[in-house]
Amino acid sequence: MCGIVAYIGQREAYPVVLKGLKRLEYRGYDSAGVAIINNGLQVYKKKDKVAALEEYATSFDMRSPIAIGHTRWATHGEPCDRNAHPHVSGDGKLAMVHNGIIENYVQLKQELINQGHVFQSDTDTEVLLHFIEEIKKQNQCPLEEALRIALKRVVGAYVIVLIDADNPDTLIAARKGSPLVIGVGKGEHFLASDASPIVEYTKEVVYVNDYEIAIIKADELILKNISNERQTPYIQKLDIELAAIEKGGYDHFMLKEIFEQPQTIFDSLRGRLDAKKGTLTMGGIREYAEMLSKANRIIIVACGTSWHAGLIAEYVIEELCRIPVEVEYASEFRYRNPVVGPGDVIIAVSQSGETADTLVAIESAKEKGAIILGICNVVGSSIARLSHAGAYTHAGPEIGVASTKAFTAQLAVLCLVALKIASEKGSVSAQRFQHLLDELEQTSDKVATALKLDDQVKAIADKYKDARDFLYLGRGYNFPVALEGALKLKEISYIHAEGYPAAEMKHGPIALVDENLPVVIVATKDSYYEKVVSNIQEIKARKGKVIAIVTEGDQTIPPMADDVIFVPSADEIVAPIISVIPLQLLAYHIGVLKGFDVDKPRNLAKSVTVE
Ligand code: M6R
Repeated sequence: MCGIVAYIGQREAYPVVLKGLKRLEYRGYDSAGVAIINNGLQVYKKKDKVAALEEYATSFDMRSPIAIGHTRWATHGEPCDRNAHPHVSGDGKLAMVHNGIIENYVQLKQELINQGHVFQSDTDTEVLLHFIEEIKKQNQCPLEEALRIALKRVVGAYVIVLIDADNPDTLIAARKGSPLVIGVGKGEHFLASDASPIVEYTKEVVYVNDYEIAIIKADELILKNISNERQTPYIQKLDIELAAIEKGGYDHFMLKEIFEQPQTIFDSLRGRLDAKKGTLTMGGIREYAEMLSKANRIIIVACGTSWHAGLIAEYVIEELCRIPVEVEYASEFRYRNPVVGPGDVIIAVSQSGETADTLVAIESAKEKGAIILGICNVVGSSIARLSHAGAYTHAGPEIGVASTKAFTAQLAVLCLVALKIASEKGSVSAQRFQHLLDELEQTSDKVATALKLDDQVKAIADKYKDARDFLYLGRGYNFPVALEGALKLKEISYIHAEGYPAAEMKHGPIALVDENLPVVIVATKDSYYEKVVSNIQEIKARKGKVIAIVTEGDQTIPPMADDVIFVPSADEIVAPIISVIPLQLLAYHIGVLKGFDVDKPRNLAKSVTVE
């Protein structure tokens, strides 16, 4: 949550930071602000998206070789100018941006109020800044030292970046629990919450670790740990291209990302699966493959769309590996004191690799002796780094807040992991193993075929866009697909939608069915097919409107349904990768037809780094 960008060097800093904030807007867009040093500290901030800040700033002299910027997803205090970052110290000399939450801010604030501090905002960030200022004043020490002392008392998660009007050639940053990347240029440095604001300037980056403090000048980067010991910055090469984070002619990132899926699925399998040779290589789990095959049980922890991918993986792993699997909301798993320990394998699924709930869930499971396998999209992310082993999904940067291509890549990689464990364990026949390799290899082409349904799905979207509620149903592997379809619709069209196992309908939700309720049923040919046909009849008997996703060639369901979408035939294990495509398109078109900003849905942020 919240995006941070900062720059120091020879360029004009404000345009670099502004552009970076636009790239990071997916992390939050309640307000935006910048601080520069130009005849002293100048701070400009505005409620709403970065564009509002940009317009506001046109009337000011924004020249400065140093700047910090922030785009906010509100936690403490409503979205408004006053609560926007950067915040300023009582003496007006320091400005700070922050991503994360200071959990003990109430206590710190009271102490500071007792010492005479006055606050302008409702934020925890301003409290931390005043706390640093107070320590600096009391100890008569440099800012870096005051920060170090302050952080030892702070409970919570943070990335912070500070500037000091008295030291205009230095940025100071610190990290715990939220991501911070430093781009290393020639005589310049770029700081950001992820690499997207940096990639067009330099490919050399340093990922700051938890409890590290960075002291950054135009031509110098010093990293220290919280005990003031110098650390050697580990410079890595970014492997993303600028094109990957731009819209490339599409109206929205979400649509671009939906249409990228044939390629991203291909990329997630590339170098791992060779159907002709009948081989499967998973470098990231090689050392753990035997241990995984002997696991007592596997617990998948994730949130949102990634949790849906985990639910499908549960079916796949139990079917192929015969290992018991539990799928947990990371937030619940962490706080209910779960029974977990040596012999358990935790699979953490996360696009961003930064989701706080998932991160803390695996931290505690790791402490208890479980083996952690990370399935992440963002290379070098916190979850990836905390895991013992894992596999990247290689879907490329996902900018649209509603996850699409990351989901199908997660499904593809989780299938590979299941097949790897199954072959190690000998729980899958050679014939079935080969068949599934073939099926996976064909998935990318089948997704391309499913994308040709776009116009048809758009027409269906137009027909149902004014519905008040939607029901999404599926059974077996398609039940989590129904959940995902409902989540996509809720997120970007603000229409109430529920996903249910089709058989559960008769235990309650069928009471909702009448001639006004569109029911999307994922009813592809699989081992549950006949049962789903009966469920469709139950809906039609109550005059519900059925939008059925069926397998090409199906002749049974189309006469019963109000609208039919045919998708290519596939083995039931890989079918969700294909059947979710029309659901993504349906949500997208309804959101657009209703006039909403589908890339930045209200109240949401891409990377949820608060618990
Ligand atoms: O980055 P993660 O995969 O860990 O994110 C988990 C959820 O926050 C995420 O999937 C969220 O539900 C998306 N907005 C879904 O479209």
